[in-house]
Amino acid sequence: MEIAYFNGRFLPKENICLSPDDRGFLFGDGIYEVMKWYGSFFFDSESHLVRLKRSLREVRINWMKADSFLNISSELIRKNDLENRHALVYMQVTRGAAPRNHSFPDPEVEPTVYAFAREIKETGSVLPAGVSVLLRKDIRWSRCDIKSVSLLANTLSFQEAHERGMKECIFVRDGVITEGSRSNIFIVAGGILFTHPESGYILSGISRKNTIRLAKESGIPVREEPFPEKDLTRIQEAFITSTSAEVTPVTSFDTLQVGNGMTGTITSEIYRKFQADIRAMKE
Ligand code: PDD
Repeated sequence: MEIAYFNGRFLPKENICLSPDDRGFLFGDGIYEVMKWYGSFFFDSESHLVRLKRSLREVRINWMKADSFLNISSELIRKNDLENRHALVYMQVTRGAAPRNHSFPDPEVEPTVYAFAREIKETGSVLPAGVSVLLRKDIRWSRCDIKSVSLLANTLSFQEAHERGMKECIFVRDGVITEGSRSNIFIVAGGILFTHPESGYILSGISRKNTIRLAKESGIPVREEPFPEKDLTRIQEAFITSTSAEVTPVTSFDTLQVGNGMTGTITSEIYRKFQADIRAMKE
């Protein structure tokens, strides 16, 4: 039986009842976080907690118990017998339930907090095969830095990629590559690793941040600069990063092959360093 967390209690998922007036349901008025469990530890849980608190602050949701995120996550792992497995923990916090009105509930109501843990396949021993990605106009808002549950633009775009047999949809805004529908993207051109700078146009991924650190430690030149879509024809390598995909090579943008169509040396190096970094967190 799957045990989930809901508003202060751990209970069977099927026993959870949500108000139809919940603002997460009515407006997508909430934020979320996703963190990975590697059999005995969470990867960079501190950064996930910092980002959760930042998202809450940016949307002005006052969840006083945000610091319990790590305890709740660990309890979900334990209660679902996932201690020796790999899993993702998902937590979302919405502004709570109140009669539908665009202004925030006044007086304030308790936020709705929901979290679950889901087992995933173990990754990491072999570099994953390169994937194809779709390129589409970035139809999202300009506060993509907030990990908001309002993900309709992301799901619509991802679904199109999925229906075309591709593993991600990469967004283009004003002629530059921003990020994916559920990942950040890195591009290698002329031996330099490019990724979009932190701004309202991307989510500041925890995997992105760690990738930049590892690249710099390895002496790979990194530029946090927008990369023009028109220059994709001259790139050597590309890869996406996310909590679940870790470091996954991209070998084609739609019909455009990346480099020679094989995973490149910088991608392989970053992948190896990323795996070593995960193992180091265990110690
Ligand atoms: N997705 N950009 C977007 C739009 C994302 O949704 C994600 C993560 C990332 C990568 O962030 P991180 O490295 O911190 O996982 C970038 C999560 C996993 C999801 O929505 O399931």
